[in-house]
Amino acid sequence: MAELQEVQITEEKPLLPGQTPEAAKEAELAARILLDQGQTHSVETPYGSVTFTVYGTPKPKRPAIFTYHDVGLNYKSCFQPLFQFGDMQEIIQNFVRVHVDAPGMEEGAPVFPLGYQYPSLDQLADMIPCILQYLNFSTIIGVGVGAGAYILSRYALNHPDTVEGLVLINIDPNAKGWMDWAAHKLTGLTSSVAEMILGHLFSQEELSRNSELIQKYRNIITHAPNLENIELYWNSYNNRRDLNFERGGDITLKCPVMLVVGDQAPHEDAVVECNSKLDPTQTSFLKVSTLLPGKLTEAFKYFLQGMGYMASSCMTRLSRSRTASLTSAASIDGNRSRSRTLSQSSESGTLSSGPPGHTMEVSC
Ligand code: BEZ
Repeated sequence: MAELQEVQITEEKPLLPGQTPEAAKEAELAARILLDQGQTHSVETPYGSVTFTVYGTPKPKRPAIFTYHDVGLNYKSCFQPLFQFGDMQEIIQNFVRVHVDAPGMEEGAPVFPLGYQYPSLDQLADMIPCILQYLNFSTIIGVGVGAGAYILSRYALNHPDTVEGLVLINIDPNAKGWMDWAAHKLTGLTSSVAEMILGHLFSQEELSRNSELIQKYRNIITHAPNLENIELYWNSYNNRRDLNFERGGDITLKCPVMLVVGDQAPHEDAVVECNSKLDPTQTSFLKVSTLLPGKLTEAFKYFLQGMGYMASSCMTRLSRSRTASLTSAASIDGNRSRSRTLSQSSESGTLSSGPPGHTMEVSC
């Protein structure tokens, strides 16, 4: 009879019955790939079905990062450059992310039948509770661009207790006046919908430079198989109501807000006006020459830190990597008491942030 030997088996993780370590590793890898690719879901709402993609896993006691894209785009074309940016990984790994596609904007969406009544922006905002209920998420930090920024603001006005913070990029909270309508109609006589949407997404200067990026987006929008759907979202955007923000009044955003606008962006004046109407102790204003992922990542990082969501050890490491070659701090915000300002400065050295009501400074 063969001699019996005592063998000590140490298992790091319990295996499923009959599962070899190799199979367990493969299953883990498959689960990770699935999470990294995002999981797409659809829910029915009173205004039709809406699709969204979830990346990462829910973290206890942390809000979900919840994005809403602009007209002419979907969640991927709008947010992939930011969320897949290198330095952003350290931030977003701490949060589950939910990226909504406005109805008919999801990849492979069929064209809506003729006469389909596309939801208004207010109705698109009213679809959000169905998504959060489905996922069982109670609070969010919203990140919206253009029409998406408007939708998230409307949602925050209606459900202030569920929104911990808002990053609003290129928001125009105003309804179109009759002058805007006249100009819009005139432009519509000579320009295609795709060109009008490009004029909404980019500054005239950017369009006339016709960089590779502009050509890419022109190509995406002009040849979109769901161009009819895009036009419906565009029409809803142009028919938006005024958000009616009033400083010190009842209709205002109650959470910390970071307003971001590109220098010479089509909505620069609207964002400046929006800043003047929001609570200065809760609002940061960031104007950047171009909306590059690096700048947004850094601003986002300090916005989250102001809300108490980024460990300072992580911040120190990230800050060091950004400022290794820079020297001392210099505030360039001359309006310290009025609002939090994220200032773009090539001279400023250290990166500092503070609680709402204080100046934040970002070197971009
Ligand atoms: C994310 O990791 O949240 C993400 C990945 C790809 C596209 C958009 C977002």
